[in-house]
Amino acid sequence: MTRHIPVLAKEIYENLIINNKNDSEKYYHLDCNFGDGGHVEYFIENLLKSDKYKKIFIYALDLDQEAIVRGKDFLKKYKDNNKLSITIIQGNFANITDLIKDIKFDSVLFDLGLSTYQLSGAGRGFSFKYDEKLDMRFSTLPANEGELTAYDIVNFWSLDNICLILRQYADEKSAWRIANKLVEVREHKKIETSGELADIIQNQVFKGGKGKIHPATKTFQALRIAVNAELQVLDQGLKGTYDVLNKNGCIAVISYHSLEDVIVKQYFKDLEKNDKGMRVNKKIIIPTDEEIKENPKSRSAKLRIFKKI
Ligand SMILES: C[S@@+](CC[C@H](N)C(=O)[O-])C[C@H]1O[C@@H](n2cnc3c(N)ncnc32)[C@H](O)[C@@H]1O
Repeated sequence: MTRHIPVLAKEIYENLIINNKNDSEKYYHLDCNFGDGGHVEYFIENLLKSDKYKKIFIYALDLDQEAIVRGKDFLKKYKDNNKLSITIIQGNFANITDLIKDIKFDSVLFDLGLSTYQLSGAGRGFSFKYDEKLDMRFSTLPANEGELTAYDIVNFWSLDNICLILRQYADEKSAWRIANKLVEVREHKKIETSGELADIIQNQVFKGGKGKIHPATKTFQALRIAVNAELQVLDQGLKGTYDVLNKNGCIAVISYHSLEDVIVKQYFKDLEKNDKGMRVNKKIIIPTDEEIKENPKSRSAKLRIFKKI
């Protein structure tokens, strides 16, 4: 399966390194969304070229056990490099202060959402293009009792609650029609797979109508956000990483939809108002036309950077 292409890598690296004025010979970087390790590799390659740092410590987190195995494989070429220490941890960035103790970072990166690998048939029902079990959790471990999956939402949540997440998390104009149809269909047979769900929305709600984007796009987005509590964990993750940031250290966040961006923007503004640092960029940084042409998945990316003072 093709490797995920890291988005805005040059812009992030340059901003984080230029803004880091520490005199130490050690550099500590934390990547909260390891994925296929593309951003981590970009950082490593460029930090290794610089003479300033004698020792480079990279920490990375991901909830997805398979992503960690894949990403580690991409980085195995560095295993004998003694200037470098790489630690990859399976866990949720919302729990950063429990997962990593007694280390302060010079830079922290969030690259939110899904990797190309997860979207292209990783078996968890993230995409309407594949017929997979409706799960949508980032973790690949079997769901614990009480742990929410997309299957639970579409088959057991009330009409009102399904409607609410479709509106709140995806601004779906046909929320009521979709929720109503799901409730009707599940009376006869549970909705088991991403393919079944996509088919119900495309052929029963929209009667096969053809638009530019697939009519199930927003439903899939809303379900994924709800299953992984993405907005709540982002809020916790940002607060936690501020605590593990060195003075003069920077947090960079790439978000891919406006609900995430609003949380990041507001959090950085609040920190600035309380004299906890400054926004490095007041206007969002977005990919160039060239990057979008090379990697169309980057087109909705928005980058914000904050510096702790
Ligand atoms: C866009 S991909 C990152 C791609 C990566 N930057 C690269 O260059 O290969 C997002 C990754 O974040 C992970 N993820 C999403 N939410 C998470 C969370 N709350 N805690 C830890 N990892 C998370 C996903 O499993 C996915 O692998």
